[in-house]
Amino acid sequence: MCGIVGYLGNKKACPILVNGLKKLEYRGYDSAGICVLEKNTLAVKKDKGRVKNLETLDGINSLEGTLGIAHTRWATHGKPSKDNAHPHMDNSKTFAVVHNGIIENFKELREFLGNNNYKFYSETDSEVIPNLIHYYYSKGNNFIKSVNLACKDLKGSYALEIICKNEPDTLIVTRKDSPLVIGTSENGTYISSDIPALIAYTNNFCFLNDTELALITKNNIEFFDCNLNSINKEFSNVELSAESCDKGNFEDYMLKEIYEQPNSIRETIGNTLNGEKIVFDTLQLSKKYLSTIKQIYIVACGTAMHAGLGVKPNFEKFCNIPVCVDIASEFRYRNPLIDENTLCIYISQSGETADTIAALKLAKSKGAKTIAVTNVIESSITREADYFVYTHAGPEIAVASTKAYTSQLVLLNIMALYFAEILETISKEEINKLKKEILLLSKKVDEILKNTDKIKRLAKQIYNKRDVFFIGRGLDHTVALESALKLKEISYIHSEAYAAGELKHGPIALIEKNVPVISIVTNPDLADKTISNIQEVITRGATSIVITNQNINESNFDFVYKIPETLEYYTPIISVIPLQILAYYVTKEKGLDVDKPRNLAKSVTVE
Ligand code: M6R
Repeated sequence: MCGIVGYLGNKKACPILVNGLKKLEYRGYDSAGICVLEKNTLAVKKDKGRVKNLETLDGINSLEGTLGIAHTRWATHGKPSKDNAHPHMDNSKTFAVVHNGIIENFKELREFLGNNNYKFYSETDSEVIPNLIHYYYSKGNNFIKSVNLACKDLKGSYALEIICKNEPDTLIVTRKDSPLVIGTSENGTYISSDIPALIAYTNNFCFLNDTELALITKNNIEFFDCNLNSINKEFSNVELSAESCDKGNFEDYMLKEIYEQPNSIRETIGNTLNGEKIVFDTLQLSKKYLSTIKQIYIVACGTAMHAGLGVKPNFEKFCNIPVCVDIASEFRYRNPLIDENTLCIYISQSGETADTIAALKLAKSKGAKTIAVTNVIESSITREADYFVYTHAGPEIAVASTKAYTSQLVLLNIMALYFAEILETISKEEINKLKKEILLLSKKVDEILKNTDKIKRLAKQIYNKRDVFFIGRGLDHTVALESALKLKEISYIHSEAYAAGELKHGPIALIEKNVPVISIVTNPDLADKTISNIQEVITRGATSIVITNQNINESNFDFVYKIPETLEYYTPIISVIPLQILAYYVTKEKGLDVDKPRNLAKSVTVE
């Protein structure tokens, strides 16, 4: 939930570190700091607030050093404050450390270090790390050995960058269960939690596995395993453009990402539908194996979980296998019934979500095969799963997930057809009809994006409301859930989603005059039922807003937005678009920061 950046090379470190932090702010943005080695001292500049505050700190622009580390924080232990901001130093100010992750045994380590006369100046779990390294260093171990011994004492997750004032040309990095990537160019070595922060400098990257260490010097990088045995690691080219990581001409990342959807959907489809049969480069399953599957679990958090809900009936219908969608943080603690006849699919845009990864490990330990669906190349989940498939939606930077969601829906729908094709559970003609429709989706999304004025006007009408309700039936209910999450997480308006038929079982008590109720109506078989439910809230004074592809009598409602038609299975990919746009413009009307809503971070690496 934090972002880290590091640099050692022939350029001034400070601007590279600050630029990198700006790109990582989506990971956390309550405080930020850097440490640059200046002659033989470690110069630390840090404070609470955003990275732009860091840039105004006294003396930051006169830092000349070419070795440095940096951090942007999402507070877990200790409130956002200057003392709790990273980098942290040991008592002797020999080591500076930035840390992304959580040290679960920090209390024991504090006590141990306290008994050895170390003092603590922050409330963080991270401050034990530089002191522990110093403890081992003071016993005569060299820099890397001290880091290695300290890491062996840590329980929990970490991505660490460490510099030492006595080692002017050395940066050590290591990781466990938190992401870290190393990039190189002729100007030096760059470290980050994520590729987009480095793409302006290099395309050449190497990813550390859990507990591996890299010893970076001016002209060399050496890699070690957790026992300090030397290991070889490959660097490879990652095809990502600097533009794909920038806002471009858009005011916010979220708006850019909403508008990227026609293209991201095309990228997700990629070559999968080109041949006679569906092909995934990284997923090949046999009929023999799939025929043994009695149960599919789809497990994820937040928006990714909503994508799971949005494909469950399609998997069941096309593959004739029962599907259970679960929240990762519930699944992992409830001892689910899993065996080798269960297939578990995990969805995570970031590929770093702690609960999702833990849920995946649980299923593996019970003998099930696991498939990870993720957007981030080489993310942790790809290393844990038996198979992974990339959504290829491109970097999603805004905290509110938009293009990742539609790409997850598209990819999982293709996966459902892939299974059905192998299992021969639906006819060739039906599969071809479904494939053809998937290829039309991006054009239909584009049509909506060219027609947003009405939604902007609606945003002006509802931005000052206290509550907004979303209702729908079947797949429309899953879009209601996603749309309510989108609105609440960025506009802070209380929004709830209900299955339309459930309103009368309690929630309708909340409906009063002028409360907006947004209904999604796309299924012809269920439309009349939902319209009756809308009538019930109109009778109680609600403002009725309808998103539909059906021919309804528009004069019966306060606001109707028509969306393009598609097959019933794919409606969530279309109907969510106006509701993403609505959440965006409501938030703009309120003057809030769309990309960085309060209390949130993009990548949720805490449990
Ligand atoms: O990276 P993941 O897909 O695993 O993230 C899961 C959720 O944290 C994420 O979808 C979250 O709900 C978003 N803020 C929603 O917009």
